[in-house]
Amino acid sequence: MKIINENCLEILNPQAFPRFEKQIALTFLDPPFNQGKEYDFFEDALPQSEYWEMMQVVCGRIHQLTSEGGAIYFMQREKNTEFVLRCLRETGWTLQNLIVWTKRTSAVPGTTRFGKQYQIIAFATKGKRPRVFNRLRIDLPLRPEHKYPRDAGVFVTDVWDDIRELTSGYFAGDEALRLENGERAHKQQAPIALLLRIILSSTRVGDVVLDPFAGTGTTLIVAKQLGRDGVGIEVDPKNTKLIQARIAAERVSDAIEPLREYYRYTPNLAALWPSPEIELVSKTAGKQLALLDG
Ligand SMILES: C[S@@+](CC[C@H](N)C(=O)[O-])C[C@H]1O[C@@H](n2cnc3c(N)ncnc32)[C@H](O)[C@@H]1O
Repeated sequence: MKIINENCLEILNPQAFPRFEKQIALTFLDPPFNQGKEYDFFEDALPQSEYWEMMQVVCGRIHQLTSEGGAIYFMQREKNTEFVLRCLRETGWTLQNLIVWTKRTSAVPGTTRFGKQYQIIAFATKGKRPRVFNRLRIDLPLRPEHKYPRDAGVFVTDVWDDIRELTSGYFAGDEALRLENGERAHKQQAPIALLLRIILSSTRVGDVVLDPFAGTGTTLIVAKQLGRDGVGIEVDPKNTKLIQARIAAERVSDAIEPLREYYRYTPNLAALWPSPEIELVSKTAGKQLALLDG
């Protein structure tokens, strides 16, 4: 695992990018959404055109570093769908799915339009065919409109309504990293269940996974447990420290093992998701990581 404290634009080129035996198989792209949030090392209120020009450079550079058939999952707000699709298309990516990730928390009611309840994740590949696409089956609970329980689960579709976001309040639970004072260490922390699905779908054991806007390192935490290699780039030194501490801590709430049962009907699951040799034991005393305030 490599964690690099830098602006990703400085690292995403063949000269600066760390050497691996293989090219990148998968990128999870979860940049700041340019909605005026407070970031210490990022201007989150850029003019639209500037922001999308930057994203275009990022997507183009990732494309260069990716193996033929490799994948990118670009997460954004639904209102930016047209920009995301254009950005991927113009940098050579082939769209495979526009995934709708629905949120569990109540939407803010709109006065002139419907309340917003989902985020998009554009899944695209370098070239027409994915190099890897593992068809995952999940044990989706029976819904009222379904008559019979499924004997062997269902294939995952492009609507992901079974992964809870880490919201700010109580529901964020133990998985959300917190400071000593109980506040969340990073408001945009993605759930491990989301990265588990993405990495399982689009990589094999030993592949290289990239996260150019690594935040709290969720991608690396999951990649490591799945036996994939990873590179995380994060511009803010506080977050970089957070990632290092999180990886070292092996928190119980970061363990993906409890989710294995949900995917048990996936063909060949053992090959995609090797069993851990040692049981994950939390090395931290509580929920906080001491390093966070240091
Ligand atoms: C939406 S958050 C990512 C959250 C992440 N997916 C997680 O699970 O924690 C975006 C992150 O990108 C970082 N960032 C912003 N501009 C960057 C840049 N140019 N290069 C690298 N990281 C950057 C921000 O500091 C922030 O932590």
